[in-house]
Amino acid sequence: MTMGASHQRGLDPHYYTDPAVFARELERIFARSWLLVGHRSQVASPGRHVTARVGDEHVIVVNDGGTVRGLYNVCRHRGHELVTADEGTASSFTCPYHAWTYGLDGVLLSARGEDVGEVQIPGVAVESLGGFLFVNLDPDAASLADTIPGIEAELLAIAPDAPDRVLSHRRTQLIGANWKVAVENYNECYHCPNVHKTFTAGVVTPGSYRITPRGATIHHTAEGPTPERSGYVRPSDANDYGSFFTWPASSIQCYPGQVLNTFRWVPLEVDRTLLIREWWLDRPEPTPPQQEVIDLDWTTTVAEDFDLMESVQRGMASRGYRPGPLIVDPSGVADVHAENAVPHLHGLLLDALGDR
Ligand code: FES
Ligand SMILES: [Fe+2]
Repeated sequence: MTMGASHQRGLDPHYYTDPAVFARELERIFARSWLLVGHRSQVASPGRHVTARVGDEHVIVVNDGGTVRGLYNVCRHRGHELVTADEGTASSFTCPYHAWTYGLDGVLLSARGEDVGEVQIPGVAVESLGGFLFVNLDPDAASLADTIPGIEAELLAIAPDAPDRVLSHRRTQLIGANWKVAVENYNECYHCPNVHKTFTAGVVTPGSYRITPRGATIHHTAEGPTPERSGYVRPSDANDYGSFFTWPASSIQCYPGQVLNTFRWVPLEVDRTLLIREWWLDRPEPTPPQQEVIDLDWTTTVAEDFDLMESVQRGMASRGYRPGPLIVDPSGVADVHAENAVPHLHGLLLDALGDR
């Protein structure tokens, strides 16, 4: 491979530290993009619902008589959250504050006997990709399939039963870093040989790792190591690793053996991000070998990144930092010696903010 430092530079650091930039991102990116919220198995029967944070909003995704719909999670009376639990089953939603009751379509059914006229909670768009549910707050948004074409087929090629998986495990971590620090870290494996020894030894064959930016997605592919070198017991012989990052802050990842898991990065403040990791397996309670791979991932690859991201966030605020040259493979595809997705993410950001 022909390599060399490119002339591309990182973003000006104020993009990672300025609350005014963060406010623009919520408006221009998180209120207009498709964001992963869960899986259709969580809303499989009428009345089943989940709630999720989407940017600075909170939404309900509910099975309304077979139709999966999204609603803003806010009561039209005086603004209390309508649903306070993460998930549940209901035939209607009753607000905890003054007990107004809404149908699963968001239409007000009863205001404790008062006639208040027609009241309805606004809906939000929900679409599915390989069984995974994404929400978009923008009523004029292009469809998910048009936004990230081809991804569903590629996901189903390495995890054909993705639509049938169920939530088996969830872990969360509050990260003291801007969401872009986290997303950029996820989308480059330039740091993998240096930092993620367990991942490069037992999950993938590092020489095969490739990261391909494609519009609003970044596709990671790799081969697993030989089964004898696998860091965990694989539930199937499938040897492909694949990851499907979707701009701005979601990823569906498949470890060799068809072990599906997801990332959601929720921006809380300019320097605080909530990471939600979920594992989508064939049963709600992981078997001991399944739990082992979950623990292996969380205690090595994922945990190894937390300190890095918080250190980078401190660096973004340093008077001594100037955005350095980025290592870009001229082929457009990065292996573990390049970080092509980083400037690609910067381009998506600047376009969305109208800053170039
Ligand atoms: S705020 Fe919901 S009933 Fe009053
Ligand atoms: Fe990492």
